[in-house]
Amino acid sequence: MHGPRGAFDATGAVATPIYQTATFAHEGLAEDGAVSTGYDYTRQQNPTREQLEKLVASLEEADDALAFASGMAAVRALMELFAPGDRILASGDLYGGTYRLFDQMLAPRGLQFSYGADTESLLALIARHEDAKAVFIETPTNPMMNVFDIVRIAEAVRNADTLLVVDNTFLTPYFQKPLTLGAHIVLHSGSKYLGGHNDTIAGLLAVRGAALAEQLRFVQKTTGGGLAPFDAFLMIRGIKTLALRLERAQANAQTIVQWLCAHPKVTTVRYPGIAEHEGYAVSKAQTSGFGAMISFYVTDAAVARQFLARVRLIRFAESLGGTETLVTYPMLQTHADIPEAERLEIGITDRLLRLSVGVESPADLIADLDRALS
Ligand SMILES: Cc1ncc(COP(=O)(O)O)c(C=O)c1O
Repeated sequence: MHGPRGAFDATGAVATPIYQTATFAHEGLAEDGAVSTGYDYTRQQNPTREQLEKLVASLEEADDALAFASGMAAVRALMELFAPGDRILASGDLYGGTYRLFDQMLAPRGLQFSYGADTESLLALIARHEDAKAVFIETPTNPMMNVFDIVRIAEAVRNADTLLVVDNTFLTPYFQKPLTLGAHIVLHSGSKYLGGHNDTIAGLLAVRGAALAEQLRFVQKTTGGGLAPFDAFLMIRGIKTLALRLERAQANAQTIVQWLCAHPKVTTVRYPGIAEHEGYAVSKAQTSGFGAMISFYVTDAAVARQFLARVRLIRFAESLGGTETLVTYPMLQTHADIPEAERLEIGITDRLLRLSVGVESPADLIADLDRALS
């Protein structure tokens, strides 16, 4: 497939072409099957998707990567590796859609889930359930920004059959590379920072080990959740500016964190880059940046509602990781399907707001926050 000087194909195109084709024709028939270009049918493999997969594998320092139609399609494909009766240990705070899949679809079908609120409780669960098939964590978690210690968890997983899966959506390989810290699989909602423009839904699994990648590729081709060529193109385009966007978004986030910490209507700021965060030291050790996600509590629910009504530049919307700053009300949006008692125990109350800081002018963002909180 490679053409002049490392270009993607024989034409020398600098941007990856969109191979918008469902099927690929064969030269003819040989003794042992069709004479193929290596591509047969886009559900199985497509050159544009393949290019994205190679790109993400190289960023995550993985042996292979697979692109799916959404982050949830990636989680679902991963779960095909497990069977009824298998136990999965997970971080106690997870994206609400992941929790919904575990709790409302997979648990009723016989998979068993146990949740640990922090590194220590997850380590205790790992010690108690040596036969667990996977440990599935987000770090930092959505939306509480809890930090899990990837190295300690990887070291605690002694059973060679237990997979450590890290959802790296919030930090991306630019700031955190879980596979280099002992994880086996990295998951992404590519809809967030990797795509980066709030215009595409995608998911990725980056995998250590050819055999594991092969198993997942079998799931991908058999269940058909692979990412479409045009969306793969948008993801590749987004990733070109990943570093630039993240540097700017993180700088903006740090300005906003300082401002929020000093505001009388803000009671607590959850951002791993401040010394008061209990995960600060672990974050410093396992990441090269703290990212641009911030959760914070305001004094009461009325202030939260006023904030959502008053923002102008900042948009009140689900999702994160794009160029636009978004504010989310986890209780009613991303985490609405978590039963109330569990939601409150995690800390997702009517006073909690989540900010995904974008790349706008920091002065404009502060002016908008000031209006919304005045
Ligand atoms: C941390 C995390 N993981 C997974 C997902 C699911 O990804 P998608 O929305 O692309 O299906 C999300 C979505 O918000 C998320 O925030």
